[in-house]
Amino acid sequence: MTAINDVTTLEIDGEIAVVTLNSPPVNALSAPVREGITNGVKDAIDNDAVKAIVLICEGKTFIAGADITEFGKAPKGPSLFDALQMIEFGTKPVVAAIHGTALGGGLEVALTCHYRVAVPSAKCGLPEVKLGLLPGAGGTQRLPRIVGPEKALEMVTSGSHVGAKQCLEMGLVDELAEEGKLREGAVAFARKIVAEKRPLKKVRDLNDKVEAARGKPEIFENFRKANARKFRGFLAPEYNIQCIEAAVNLPFDEGIKVEQKLFRELVTGTQSAAQRHVFFAERQVWKLPDVPADTPIIPVKKVGIIGAGTMGGGIAMNFLNTGFPVTIVETKQEALDRGIATIRKNYENSAKKGRFPMEEVEKRMGLLTGSLDMNDLADCDLVIEAVFENMDIKKDVFGKLDKIVKQGAILATNTSALNIDEIATAVKRPEAVIGLHFFSPANVMRLLEVVRADKTSNEVIATSMQIAKKIGKIAALVGVCPGFVGNRILAQRQREAQKLIMEGAMPWDVDRVLYDFGLPMGPFAMSDLAGLDIGWSKEKSKGETLRDRLCEMDRRGQKTGAGYYDYDENRNAKPSPVVEKMILDYAAEKGINRRTISDDEILERCIYPMINEGAKILEEGKAIRSSDIDIVWINGYGFPVYRGGPMFYGDTVGADKVLAKMKEFQAKMGDDFKPAALLEKIVAEGKRFGDY
Ligand code: 3HC
Ligand code: NAI
Repeated sequence: MTAINDVTTLEIDGEIAVVTLNSPPVNALSAPVREGITNGVKDAIDNDAVKAIVLICEGKTFIAGADITEFGKAPKGPSLFDALQMIEFGTKPVVAAIHGTALGGGLEVALTCHYRVAVPSAKCGLPEVKLGLLPGAGGTQRLPRIVGPEKALEMVTSGSHVGAKQCLEMGLVDELAEEGKLREGAVAFARKIVAEKRPLKKVRDLNDKVEAARGKPEIFENFRKANARKFRGFLAPEYNIQCIEAAVNLPFDEGIKVEQKLFRELVTGTQSAAQRHVFFAERQVWKLPDVPADTPIIPVKKVGIIGAGTMGGGIAMNFLNTGFPVTIVETKQEALDRGIATIRKNYENSAKKGRFPMEEVEKRMGLLTGSLDMNDLADCDLVIEAVFENMDIKKDVFGKLDKIVKQGAILATNTSALNIDEIATAVKRPEAVIGLHFFSPANVMRLLEVVRADKTSNEVIATSMQIAKKIGKIAALVGVCPGFVGNRILAQRQREAQKLIMEGAMPWDVDRVLYDFGLPMGPFAMSDLAGLDIGWSKEKSKGETLRDRLCEMDRRGQKTGAGYYDYDENRNAKPSPVVEKMILDYAAEKGINRRTISDDEILERCIYPMINEGAKILEEGKAIRSSDIDIVWINGYGFPVYRGGPMFYGDTVGADKVLAKMKEFQAKMGDDFKPAALLEKIVAEGKRFGDY
C-alpha cells in the first residue's frame, strides 16, 4: 500500500488498483481529497499492471460533497475539475464504490467514474439546492443523461437522497454489493469489466434521454408551475431547472458552461451564504458549551402528558410516532375522549394520504393510554405538562406531580410564557424541572425550545436535547425570560404591525410586505388563522382595541369567515372595507394623523426591532449564540431560510445600518426602538451578530 497523501492510499490488488480516501468526518472534497483523487488515479493509470481502478472511502460515508467550509475562500490545490478530468479521460475504467451517502460533489465524482457499485444501504443525492447552490461539477449535465430530465429535475430541486436499490433501477448504480462487503464487491465488479473488456462508459456520451426531451419545453414549464409555491423566493431551484434545460438543449460541453456560470452566481450570492449558514447553525445548535459531553443521560422509556388539548395531543403524537409508550391525563372523560379521538383522526388522515399504512395507525394508538388519574404517571421517566396557561393551575399540577412521579424523572412544562423558575418552586426537586416549548401544531413544527430554569440540572438538559433529536425536532437551548426567544422576538414585530395600521398602513399592506420578504404569511393573516379571540373574553371586552372591536362584531378570524380580512367559502382572503373603515374611525378617535407609509418602512419597523431584541437576548445570555436565534425563527416561525434567520439577515444588511435606523426611529417614535447595548457594541467594534 502506498500513501498518496495524508488522506489517500493506493493499493494494488492484482490487476485492480484501489484508491482509498480517508478524510473524516464525511470525506468532503477538501484540497487534500481532490489531490488524493487526482494523484491516486494518475498513479494507478501509470502502473502497467493495473487494468481497472476502484475509488472507495473509509469511515461512515463515500464523499458527501464539496467541502462547504471552503466556499468563499481562495481556491487551493487541484480543482475538482482536474480530478474529474483525470478520471473521465483516463485510459482505465474507474469504479466508484459507494457506501453511506454519495452527495453533491461526491455523487458528481461517482457520475464521472465509468461504473458505480453500491451497498444496499447507500444513498445518492444532489442536495446542493439546500445550500442555495446547484451541482457545479457536471452533476446537472450527467444526471439527466442517466435518469432522464424529469427525475433529474425532481432530484436537483428537492435535494433528496435516493436509496441504492432505486438508484439501481434508475441506472445510477450498475450493481449492488453485499452489505459490509463493498470493497470485495467493487473489486470483483472491476475484474468482471476487465474480463469482459467492457468499454470506458462515459456518462457525458449518453444522449438518448436528453435528446428525447428536446423540443418539449412544457416539461420545464409544467414543473415550474407545479412547484411554484414550494420554490417561492428561492433562487437555486430555478437555476437548477435552467441547468437541466441546458442539458436537454445543448451539447455536453456547452451545458457545462451554463452550469459553471450559474453555479458561480449562486455561490457568491447572499442566498447561498444564508443557506450555508443555516446548515452549520443546525449542527451548532446541539452543542452546549456548559453541559459537558459526558453528562449522564436519563433513560427515557415511558412518557406522561398532562392535558389532551391542542398541544398535549400534538406532543403525544411526537412520542407515539417514535415508539414511546405515552400516558395522557385529563380532568374530564369528554376532554380525554376528544383529545384521543383527534390523535386518531390525524393518524387516519395521514394514512389515507399514504404517509404510512393503516396498520400503523393501530400500532401508534396501541402505545397510547388515556387516564383521569395523575397517579398513573408514577413510573414515567418524562412528564410534559400542557394544561391551561395559568400559573396557579400549573403550580398545582407540579405540586401533585412532585408527590406522584418517581425520583429522577424529568418534569417538563410546555408553557409559552410563564416563568418556569416560579413553576419550579412548586416542587421539592427543581433540578428536574425544564421547559419543553413545542410549537403549534406540535406534531408538525420542527422547533423545540428547551428552556433551562435556574436550577435545571445538566442531566435534565442533556436528556431533553437528546429526546428532542429522537423525536425529530431541532432543539434550541434557551433561558427563562418573557416569551423565551421566539415569542419574545415575535412580540416586537406584532407591536410594530399594530402601530403601523394605526399610523397609515392597512393590514394587507403589512402582510404583503412581510410575505414578499419571504415569511409564510403576514401578522394579520396569521391572527386570522389562529383566531382573534385567543385570550379574548366577551364579558371583559370594552372595545378598547381593534381586536376587541373585531371580536365584538364576531369577526374572530377564518373560523367565523371574517377577521382582519373577509373570507369566501374556500377561505380565500380579501381586504375588508369594514375593517378599513374601522381602522380609519379608530385612528380618528385617537387623534392619529394617518400618513402614507412606505414598504421599506413597514419592513424595517417590523424586522429591525426583532434583530435588536435578538441582540438583547444574547446580551442577557438567554440564547447561547446568535445562530441559535436564527434556528428558532426559521423552524418555529417560517423565517425564510434563504435569508438565514433574523440575525444573519441583520449581518446581511449590516449591523451599522440596523443601528442607524433604530436610532432614527427612536428619535421620531420613542423607546420601542432603543438600541440594545450589544448592537451598539457590535457596531463600535466592527463585528457581526454572527460573532456572538
Ligand atoms: N463540507 C464540510 N463539512 C461537512 C460537510 C461538507 N460537505 N458535510 C458534513 N460536514 C460536517 C458537518 O458540519 C459536521 O461537522 P461537526 O461535527 O463539526 O458539526 C460533520 O461533518 C458531520 O456532519 P453531520 O452531523 O451532518 O453528520 P450526519 O452523519 O448526520 O450526516 C451527511 C452526514 C448526510 C453527509 C450530512 O452531513 C450532509 O448532508 N452533509 C452535506 C452534504 C451536502 O450538502 N453536500 C453538497 C455540498 S455542495 C457541493 O458538493 C457542490 C458541488 O456540486 C461542487
Ligand atoms: P387547550 O386549552 O387546548 O388544552 C389544555 C387542556 O388541558 C384542556 O384539554 C384541559 O381540559 C386540560 N387540563 C386543564 N387542567 C388540567 C389538569 N389539572 N389536569 C389535566 N388536564 C388539564 O390549551 P393548549 O393550546 O393545548 O395549551 C396548553 C399549554 O401549551 C399552555 O400552557 C399554552 O400556553 C401552551 N402552548 C400553546 C400553544 C398553542 O399554540 N396553542 C403553543 C405553545 C405552547
